[in-house]
Amino acid sequence: MNKNRFTRLGFILAAAGSAVGLGNIWKFPYITGENGGGVFVMVYLLTVIFIGMSIFIAEVVLGSRVNKDSVSTVETLAPKSKKYWRYTGFTFLIGVIILSFYAIVVGWILNYIVIAATALPSSVSEAETVFLGLLKEDIVSQLIYYTLGFLIIAYTISKGIKKGIERLNNVLMPALLIILLCMFFYSMTLDGFHQAVEFMFYPNFEKFHASSIIIAVGHAFFTLSLGMATIITYSASLGKDVNIVKASISIVTLDTLIAIVSGLIIFAIVYSAGQEPSKGPGLVFITLPAIFYEMGSIGNLMAIAFFIALAFASITSSVSILEPTVMYLVERRKMSRTKATYGVSAFFYLLGVFALLSNTNEFSSALTFGSKNLFDWLDFVTAAILLPIGGIFVALFVGYIMDKNVVREALIPFMGEKFFAIWLFLIKYVAPLAIIIVMLNETGILKF
Ligand code: PFF
Repeated sequence: MNKNRFTRLGFILAAAGSAVGLGNIWKFPYITGENGGGVFVMVYLLTVIFIGMSIFIAEVVLGSRVNKDSVSTVETLAPKSKKYWRYTGFTFLIGVIILSFYAIVVGWILNYIVIAATALPSSVSEAETVFLGLLKEDIVSQLIYYTLGFLIIAYTISKGIKKGIERLNNVLMPALLIILLCMFFYSMTLDGFHQAVEFMFYPNFEKFHASSIIIAVGHAFFTLSLGMATIITYSASLGKDVNIVKASISIVTLDTLIAIVSGLIIFAIVYSAGQEPSKGPGLVFITLPAIFYEMGSIGNLMAIAFFIALAFASITSSVSILEPTVMYLVERRKMSRTKATYGVSAFFYLLGVFALLSNTNEFSSALTFGSKNLFDWLDFVTAAILLPIGGIFVALFVGYIMDKNVVREALIPFMGEKFFAIWLFLIKYVAPLAIIIVMLNETGILKF
C-alpha cells in the first residue's frame, strides 16, 4: 500500500480528531440547551446510532475497499454502466467551502486563548461587547488569527498524512482528552453539577419540538464528519482485514462521549453561576468567559484550558476537511502536495476573508445578499443543502449502486447476517429519508 497512509491507531485518532470539533464542544451544548436537555440528548443518541453510525460505516467501507482518493474510489466501485456516479467523489468540495468559515471560528478561538490569558471580560454585558467588538469591528485581529489558524492547517496538510496529520492528531487528541477530563473532574466538584446531570439526562418535553429531531439528525451528520468525503479519504489507509465495525463504533462512541462530557462541564459551570443553559450560540464566547472571570484565578486557568481544548478540537477537524481535496489533486492529478495544499488553501482562504468581512459593520452591506451575509450563506448552503446531498449520495451509492457482494464481504465478517440486514435497511431507506426531511426543513420548503 502507498506509504503515505495512517497506521491503524493513527487512523482512529485522526478520524476521531475529525469528528470531535466545534460541533461537540460549541454546538452540541447550546443546541441541547435550546431544545430542552434530556429528551434532546436521547433523540440525538438514537439518530447517532441509527443514522450517523450507518453512514459512517458506509464511508469506511468505501475508503477501505479501494485505498485511493474519493473520486477514484467511487469510480472503481461504480458499475461500468453507471459511470456518472464517479462524480459523487467530488463531494470533498463541500468540505473546503465549510473550511472557509470553520477556520474563521478557529481564528476567534485562538484570539480567545489570548483573551483568557490576559483579560477576561468581567460581566456578561462586557463579554458581549468584547465578542461583538471582535466580530463586527476588529478586522485586523480577526484576520491575524484567521490567517494563523489557516497556516497551521495548511502546514500540517503539506507535510502529508503520516508526518503531518497523524503526528498532529497523535499529540493534540490525547492532550484534548486530558484537558477535558481534568475539566470534567473539576466540574464534578461544582454546586451546579447535579443540575447539569439532571438537565442533560432528565426528559423535559417543554422545549422539545418536532424541529428538535431534525436538528438532532443534522447534527449527527455534521459531528461525524459525514457527507464530504473526509471519512472515505481517511479510510483509504485501512486494509481489508481491519474490523470496520469495531473501528467505527469506537470513533462514534468517542465523539458522542466528548459531546456529552463537554455539555456536562459547560452546564455545571453555567448552573453554578446561577445562569440558565439555554443561551444559544453565545454560550461559549459570551456567557462562559464572564463566568470564568467570576470564578477568580481557577476560572482563568479553566478559561485557558477550555479555549486550548477548543482550538485543538477545531484544528484537527479543519485539517480533515482539507485533506480530501488535496489527496485528490496529489494522487489523481499528480500535483505536488505542497502546491496542491497551498493552492487550494489560498483560494478558500480568500473566500473566507470575504466571509469574515461580511460579519463586520464596515463591509456587511456590500457582502449581504438577500436575507443573509456571505458567512451565513456559506453556513446555510453547506449545512442545509450540500451536506445532506453528500450524505444521500453515500447512502444511495452503497445501498443501491455498488456491487452487493463487495459490501457483504466488507461487513459480514464483522457484523454477521442479522446486523447486516438491519444496517442495509437503515442505509437504503431510513438514512436517505431522514436526510431528505432535514434538507426540506432546513431550506424552509417544509417547516416543522
Ligand atoms: N465533525 C466536525 C465537528 O463536529 O466540528 C466538523 C467537520 C469536520 C465536519 C470534518 C465535516 C468534516 F468533513
